[in-house]
Amino acid sequence: THLALIFGGDSSEHDVSKRSAHNIYDAMDKDKYDISLFLITKDGIILDDDASHRVFNGEPEDKVVDEVSKDLDFSDPLAPIKNLSKTKNIDVFFPIVHGNLGEDGTIQGLLRLLHKPYVGSGILESAMGFDKDITKKMLTLANVRNTNYHLITPDNKDDFSYAKLQAEFGDVIFLKPANQGSSVGIHKVTNEKEFEDGLADAFRYDYKILAEQSINGPEELEISILGNEHPIASQVGAIKVPEGDKFYTYDNKFVDASQVQFEIPVNIPEKLSDEITDMALRGYKALGLKGMARIDFLVSKDGTPYLGEVNTLPGFTNISLYPQLWNASGISYTELIDRLIDLAYK
Ligand code: DAL
Ligand code: MG
Repeated sequence: THLALIFGGDSSEHDVSKRSAHNIYDAMDKDKYDISLFLITKDGIILDDDASHRVFNGEPEDKVVDEVSKDLDFSDPLAPIKNLSKTKNIDVFFPIVHGNLGEDGTIQGLLRLLHKPYVGSGILESAMGFDKDITKKMLTLANVRNTNYHLITPDNKDDFSYAKLQAEFGDVIFLKPANQGSSVGIHKVTNEKEFEDGLADAFRYDYKILAEQSINGPEELEISILGNEHPIASQVGAIKVPEGDKFYTYDNKFVDASQVQFEIPVNIPEKLSDEITDMALRGYKALGLKGMARIDFLVSKDGTPYLGEVNTLPGFTNISLYPQLWNASGISYTELIDRLIDLAYK
């Protein structure tokens, strides 16, 4: 099978995606797969297999990009995706581009135009799963518990203040751009000034901002789902956020992860892990997800789980829970990749 890994991307998660791609590549059975690489640069240019391999093997990305950019004719509107036209002998794509322009349905649309099978969710499902507002609306329709929120847009933003949200949701409010990954642009606010500043910053990333109720003393639990029409769920794992830290931020996810600890499986009552598993599978089906998703939960002090978000192209870095949870549940990294590729054809 000739498989193409697409990674990198024009988002805040570019470097995370490169780490995920390395791990997937390393785990793949090389007797079974020929692997082509397509690195999407930070400017959104898809490099060819040769240039992508050079970066993969350690050459500085900027240097390789400078060199190959000389050969690109930028007056051609298709220049950024031109290299994908050399794909006729590729059987299946594995896009592992996290975040905007990757996890949000765009790459899936491009691959659909190429008539190629690809790992993971389709266009609409990816877009829905990436948009926190639409995700929550679909979950609520399917009776899957999630936190209350208001949607703030440039249109209605004058109707909102910290005081008004506090009266409804309590002292701690989270502001989140609807379409962003890896906690970028998220603010935890506890007064009017933080609310104003946080909202202004969040609007840099999206025109839809969720102002969300916070959960009292939450524990962050995650579960991995695998499959199409009949998805299966892994054990439940926990992320222990360093003491004093505000929340599970981009930095402790991907920059200095030495402080982050995992518990797999997490030691929780069976009733709670059953409830999380049920909510995750119902949420996965409500959104019509395919292939895989890591589903993140917040559990309040009184033991009530809330579905926080779905990640349709979850991290595969060394500290990412998606593959670790499967490994603990009896599916090795290599087998996981095989299964995901098989699911792409179905
Ligand atoms: N968005 C990152 C990659 C994750 O959730 O794993
Ligand atoms: Mg996430």
